[in-house]
Amino acid sequence: MYIAFAPLQGYTDAVYRRAHWKCVGGVDEYYTPFVRMERGEIRRKDLRDTDPEVNRGVPTVPQVIARDGDEFARLCDALQEQGWNRIDLNMGCPFPMQVKSGRGSGLLQHPDCVKKIQKEMLCRPEVSFSVKMRTGQESLDEGIAVMPIVNEMPLLHITLHPRLGRQQYKGYPNQEAFLHFLEECKHPMVYNGDVSEIESWTDMVANSKIKGLMIGRGLLAQPWMLSNKEPDEGLKQMHAKVYQHAVTNLCGDSQILSRLHAFWEYLAIDRKHKKAILKSSTLRQYDEAVAVTFRSPVFL
Ligand SMILES: Cc1cc2nc3c(=O)[nH]c(=O)nc-3n(C[C@H](O)[C@H](O)[C@H](O)COP(=O)(O)O)c2cc1C
Repeated sequence: MYIAFAPLQGYTDAVYRRAHWKCVGGVDEYYTPFVRMERGEIRRKDLRDTDPEVNRGVPTVPQVIARDGDEFARLCDALQEQGWNRIDLNMGCPFPMQVKSGRGSGLLQHPDCVKKIQKEMLCRPEVSFSVKMRTGQESLDEGIAVMPIVNEMPLLHITLHPRLGRQQYKGYPNQEAFLHFLEECKHPMVYNGDVSEIESWTDMVANSKIKGLMIGRGLLAQPWMLSNKEPDEGLKQMHAKVYQHAVTNLCGDSQILSRLHAFWEYLAIDRKHKKAILKSSTLRQYDEAVAVTFRSPVFL
């Protein structure tokens, strides 16, 4: 079964992805947070994260978010210039700023723009594309309406998160809707949404057309979920790499701590230890809180 680490802006940057791949593993591919346009330009910071050099040796899929064919073409050009021949398109981001500008799940409300993107994909036979989408922004009808166009895209697979964009992360993933899309979809499909262990999914995936799972917050909570390593062993090694990179490359306690706190935010450890780490306001306090946590870790 194919397993992908979902992209999570602010959490799964190249340093985190590499640390996970090297120290824990168990995942087939890592998707980058989306590369986007800002004030008419491609964000330099995003391109630094997709730089092949910082992703070397890690199975990585760069992702873009676009509102029309032109924007999509510019983003693909930039990634292809970096040497990528594999690109994922985000049609699922529910953040209001992206949705309002017709990107992410907002794109699902503009089949004409999806069509232009599909044409742009066909002009790039050298690239393997995939799409990550929601079932709609306001209603399921929107997702269903774009499926004929998505079916005409040259795709390796579609990853579907069966919530509407307007739900953001509220409520439960709509499994019935997922099965409906599975029937409508010509491409292999990857399930995404609230997967916190894989045992209960193994049979279901084996007995269906589902290609595999994409896991986000579940892996941030338990990075060791798919590995044979003891949780504390893998986590300690991962932390050492993220820590080393932060103290070497970032400036000042506040910048360093903001990166390091993100490492712990979703982690499934007991409240007392987590609170001490997240409350730390100097690197010294942080180091102490982490040392105490690793001395007697309590994983949930
Ligand atoms: C903080 C945060 C940042 C995210 N950033 C991205 C992103 O850059 N690209 C994307 O396709 N999805 C993004 N997502 C959505 C996740 O990839 C995933 O689809 C979602 O969390 C549901 O999967 P999960 O329940 O396994 O976490 C983000 C989600 C969160 C919570």
